[in-house]
Amino acid sequence: MAIQRVHSKWAKTNVLLQSDLLSGSIPTTRRWSRETLREMLNECAMVYVKPDAGTYGIGVIRVEKRTRGVYTFQSGTRLRTFTSFDTMADRLERLIGRRTYLIQRGIHLLRHSKRRFDIRVMVQKNLMDRWETTGIIGRLGNPAKIVTNYHSGGTPMSIERLMGSHLAAADMSAYKNKLRKLGTDVAHQLESRYPRLKEIGIDVAIDTSLKPWILEVNTLPDPYIFRKLSDRSIFRRVYRYCVGYGRFKAKRR
Ligand SMILES: Nc1ncnc2c1ncn2[C@@H]1O[C@H](COP(=O)(O)OP(=O)(O)O)[C@@H](O)[C@H]1O
Ligand SMILES: [Mg+2]
Repeated sequence: MAIQRVHSKWAKTNVLLQSDLLSGSIPTTRRWSRETLREMLNECAMVYVKPDAGTYGIGVIRVEKRTRGVYTFQSGTRLRTFTSFDTMADRLERLIGRRTYLIQRGIHLLRHSKRRFDIRVMVQKNLMDRWETTGIIGRLGNPAKIVTNYHSGGTPMSIERLMGSHLAAADMSAYKNKLRKLGTDVAHQLESRYPRLKEIGIDVAIDTSLKPWILEVNTLPDPYIFRKLSDRSIFRRVYRYCVGYGRFKAKRR
């Protein structure tokens, strides 16, 4: 049977919210509406507005309520400024059109040399058909952009390097274990609703108090990003598991 893919971020988020273990790690996420945007900006001043079924950071917009009635939004590298909520919302409504969009509380991502980064956690069915977290890698955003995706100019980097200035070296392996556990918890919860999943890639934001937040879960995760790690054994295992559940054919030698 084919490997299961689920495009809707809204559907996947709602499955995760049903887990007591995970619901506290999901930033408030709601369907787009002008009024919902108004409410959420009054509560948290910075939100992400994104397509329900997007990828690669395309169409993702960061919206902020600033002081003195000023509002801004940024998609790509262009920042637009408005002097009222309504003029901004009109513009966003035109941009979004009839597509399904979500609004998510914005997380202030940790920074490394002034650039924001987030973390991709790869979780796969291993050769014994059990969920295993096989790869963890950071993605350092292009300074001009509001997304960290590799396909939008993000730079893959080890989390040792990215978290180095935020975490004592002695705490690194415990922190990685926490991310690994988060990874398999997410996989088990999604599997309860989508039983033919074999692999997921979780985008995790780390806030300034080092709390991990689940931004989204991809069901067609890019394995090749793990080739960027100097530890070659990580990509080899990721690839081996992909072959195991039939995403790729074994290489002929
Ligand atoms: N709520 C959020 N807070 C902070 N950054 C976010 C948030 N949502 C998305 N981002 C940034 O935008 C990127 C793309 O968003 P994501 O939800 O992963 O959509 P896509 O499917 O396009 O990858 C994330 O990797 C992250 O850098
Ligand atoms: Mg993503």
